[in-house]
Amino acid sequence: MIFHVLTIFPEMFHGFLNESILKKAQGNGVIAIHIHDIRDFSEDKHRKVDDTPYGGGAGMIFTPQPLFDCIEHVKKLAPKAPVIYMTPKGIKLTQSRAEKLNTNFDQYILICGHYEGIDQRVIDELVDLEYSIGDYVLSGGEIPAMAMIDVLSRLVPGTLGNDESHREETFSKRLDRKKEYPHYTKPADFRGMKVPDVLLNGHHAEIEKWRRGQLK
Ligand code: ADE
Repeated sequence: MIFHVLTIFPEMFHGFLNESILKKAQGNGVIAIHIHDIRDFSEDKHRKVDDTPYGGGAGMIFTPQPLFDCIEHVKKLAPKAPVIYMTPKGIKLTQSRAEKLNTNFDQYILICGHYEGIDQRVIDELVDLEYSIGDYVLSGGEIPAMAMIDVLSRLVPGTLGNDESHREETFSKRLDRKKEYPHYTKPADFRGMKVPDVLLNGHHAEIEKWRRGQLK
């Protein structure tokens, strides 16, 4: 799976990409993530990418030129990738929508917005999908893009240590999209707080039944 991320803050991705599961997945070639600095495409000598909104109002808007040039450049690298704009106005990212995306695509172009948004002509001409990670407004699309990369990467076989582990978890199909059962590990008695007996007796059918009963 290949991600191309368009951002004005490339450094924000360094820590996120160089730790844990995503680091390993990139190391073993299961996923690749390319970060593109939108400012590199600005024709302005000060690398400006924003301007005031026509019609007035607060905040700044991404101008079309750097984004058009950056998206057109990246589309040549990933012609089959949908261009996805991360915005609170988009459709809500859910586990089942992520699974659907994963069935349809293995390359993605993610645009991180800032300020009050991006010029509508970019959306009309070049954006295929708009996704939100929740009904709240963040200061930029970088955290939403990271959420998108994380949820999609986990669906690729070979990303998680155990390929099955993305299946039986909260919101998975196997658990009827419900919130999963509680987990316990050793010790069986911690400060008098005991692990439910059913989990200790090794009776798999009973454990399964108990876990099913705990789904919410
Ligand atoms: N950009 C700012 N807030 C956002 C959100 N909630 N989802 C996606 N992109 C955003």
